[in-house]
Amino acid sequence: MFTTTTTSSDGTTHPVVGVTCTSPTNIAVVKYWGKRDISLNLPINSSVSVTLDQSDLRTITTVTASPSFKSKGDRLWLNGTEEDVASNRRLVVVFREMRRLAREAPDSVRAQASVADVDAVSFWVQSRNTFPTAAGLASSASGYACLVFALSRLLGLETTPEVTAVARQGSGSACRSLFGGFVRWRMGEKEDGTDSVASQVAPKEHWPEMEALIMVASRAKKHTSSTSGMMTSVQTSALLSHRAKNVVPERMEKMEAAYLAKDFTTFAELTMRDSNQFHATCLDTFPPIFYMNDVSRAVVNAVHMINKGYGKIVAAYTYDAGPNAVIYVLKEHSLNVLALLLTAFPAGDSQSAGVVGGEGSGYVLSSQLEATMKLVDAGVPNVKPELVQQMCNIAEAGRLIQVIHTRVGPGPQVVDAETGAFWEE
Ligand code: DP6
Repeated sequence: MFTTTTTSSDGTTHPVVGVTCTSPTNIAVVKYWGKRDISLNLPINSSVSVTLDQSDLRTITTVTASPSFKSKGDRLWLNGTEEDVASNRRLVVVFREMRRLAREAPDSVRAQASVADVDAVSFWVQSRNTFPTAAGLASSASGYACLVFALSRLLGLETTPEVTAVARQGSGSACRSLFGGFVRWRMGEKEDGTDSVASQVAPKEHWPEMEALIMVASRAKKHTSSTSGMMTSVQTSALLSHRAKNVVPERMEKMEAAYLAKDFTTFAELTMRDSNQFHATCLDTFPPIFYMNDVSRAVVNAVHMINKGYGKIVAAYTYDAGPNAVIYVLKEHSLNVLALLLTAFPAGDSQSAGVVGGEGSGYVLSSQLEATMKLVDAGVPNVKPELVQQMCNIAEAGRLIQVIHTRVGPGPQVVDAETGAFWEE
């Protein structure tokens, strides 16, 4: 938390309080797809996700509050460009609901808050993502989670179920980014959505060996937004309602049990099956939605080849509403799997390309031979020559722009203020 001042046009100074926070992204292993209430953002099924480490991908948000900024009203700059808050319904709802929670908080909580009168102040917010430029990864989850978390800290609120329900109204998947480790979002049953909230299943310390390889195949913005894709799927896909009613409830239980038992084989199989079923519902939508591309499908085949080559499941792919794979893998196998995948899918078509993060940093493999040599140099155990050969055979199935090697991480954090006085613009 920091305190500073702003100067009005007549030269007088006024107090400003602020806080800077960081927030992670998350990748679901039982996917959220479909809303039963669009205005409250209530899902047709529960979902569960792994929170990724913030050292590789995060949103940084500074929220400031003052009764005396140069203009009235809440304002927000995203990656340096101002958004029109008043015309963005989700932002309006987030500010309105956080003010309501602050007003309704017990006196003891309000006494701790840095903002005494939430209706007298405007919030001016600066938010940016530190995703590697090439990543093309979704940022609404970390973005809304960070805004809600920073507002809650300024208002003296803990990360209560009510606070997660506000993040859910910003973007559904954002409620899961309010916690680290393994996080569930229960769909809830009530019409007002008060029981559609997120909670932590296990902290990151529970399974620190869990790592993720993000295979960036495209940096293009998705052609069908999640919100509109979900609407069409709910209206047209019989498979989607079958999935929500008959598949997800049991899968949620099995998935949480597998994660708690650190049973990678079950976790991995369920993850791959759930991704495949989500994309099958997209194909069953009319007109169909295609998020995966040829490279995505080739990566799916490569992962199955690797698992077959090992004689057990060592890697699990999952795809959100885009062509980039996230591959969950345990630490003991991550470098081997990375090297094998790079044999089939050389990374790098520009200076900024290659592998970032993790121990695999610096791998930029431009040829099959180079890739295979790296494997030999690394003395990769368990990798049979036939498997390397198979990978070489599917080489050039497609190039990757970048691979991000990351791991399971913690929830949002308060950090020291590090921004300039943007509210003086
Ligand atoms: C495929 O949370 O982005 O990533 O609630 O409309 O903002 P809105 O959708 P969003 O959808 C995420 C869909 C998904 C699956 C998931 O994260 O569970």
